[in-house]
Amino acid sequence: MAHPHTHPRHSVAVVLQCLSAYARSAKPARLAALVPPLPRPVVEVLSALADAVLMLVLAVYYVLEAAVFELLPRRLTSKSVDGQVVLVTGAAGGLGRHLAARFARLGATIVAWDVNDDGVAETVRQVRAAGGLARGYVVDLADRQAVYRTAALVKREVGPVDILVNNAGVAFGRTFMHLTDRQIETTYNVNILAHYWTAKAFLPEMMRANRGHIVTVSSVTGLMGCYRCTDYSASKFATVGFHESLFTELKVQGYDGIHTTLVCPYFIDTGMFAGVKPRLMPMLEPARAADDIVDAVRTNQVTVTLPGSIRYLLPLKSLFPSKLSWALMYRMMQGPQAMMGMKPRL
Ligand SMILES: NC(=O)c1ccc[n+]([C@@H]2O[C@H](COP(=O)([O-])OP(=O)(O)OC[C@H]3O[C@@H](n4cnc5c(N)ncnc54)[C@H](O)[C@@H]3O)[C@@H](O)[C@H]2O)c1
Repeated sequence: MAHPHTHPRHSVAVVLQCLSAYARSAKPARLAALVPPLPRPVVEVLSALADAVLMLVLAVYYVLEAAVFELLPRRLTSKSVDGQVVLVTGAAGGLGRHLAARFARLGATIVAWDVNDDGVAETVRQVRAAGGLARGYVVDLADRQAVYRTAALVKREVGPVDILVNNAGVAFGRTFMHLTDRQIETTYNVNILAHYWTAKAFLPEMMRANRGHIVTVSSVTGLMGCYRCTDYSASKFATVGFHESLFTELKVQGYDGIHTTLVCPYFIDTGMFAGVKPRLMPMLEPARAADDIVDAVRTNQVTVTLPGSIRYLLPLKSLFPSKLSWALMYRMMQGPQAMMGMKPRL
């Protein structure tokens, strides 16, 4: 379905996907009709070969597409968010406030959600002072009914949400036996369950319009576990599964105008991991991280690690024997030792 907001890069991909779907639907009945005397196993092998050739063509196309879009200036490859409603959870400070500011500068209307009333008011004040549009809502994301109530209020007061940024998160930074049951529940409530409630609240309008974007702020710890993170890291792994499964469902159901972006940042200097001194590289600047996330959203990227170079390290976890991975983590990167310095805020 052609849509004014469909990204040009996406349209070409959709055509290729349609060709691929056609080729798949043509086998084996169509192949069998062309070569009726061939035994069925041969037909199966031929259709598998046809799929393999198609995959090769798609692989070349997608790699070239990624390379070309990497080289083109961002303004040519980015979609506009001007006039769109962008809801940012956890917008009272840290990364969320920077995301709100950046989207607002690009002309979006910001809906800022947070449990911290002073912080959310300050974010709204800053956006408005810079000439942007923003409205704040105090909501505890751990309270499902409060999320649904506030979502209904937003729809009445502002309208449907175009881009949902599930950014709010908590990190208690305690080792397993020091975590209370309540802390573990809070981590899961805020870091993953809230994503279900917000997506359930705002996805129906996106589906009706076949247009929208859901951004899942996960973490590098959502791809590899780390010290003091049995609750946090596990909840972030869950966000990866949530994003990948939702992506698959939307694709299969034909919602080609709804995009999903998973963001997996390394440490960001917001105070969430205060006291941690990572050996690998310094913490990311929150403003810079927000810029990179907004760029990723505007170019409809599906998965982003911050910094991008981290994605070359992650596969080592599966490629190396476990003992070597551990030695790399403990001796070289000194990840656990760095986390030992964390001064929990909560
Ligand atoms: N800081 C890092 O090093 C880092 C690294 C990777 C990923 N992340 C993720 O980035 C996101 C933003 O984190 P940040 O660094 O800006 O942290 P932050 O603590 O500065 O911001 C988190 C925000 O979430 C809000 N929040 C917490 N519980 C809430 C609740 N129940 N209801 C509503 N709002 C609630 C907080 O009030 C806060 O404003 C989080 O999802 C975090 O897990 C952070």
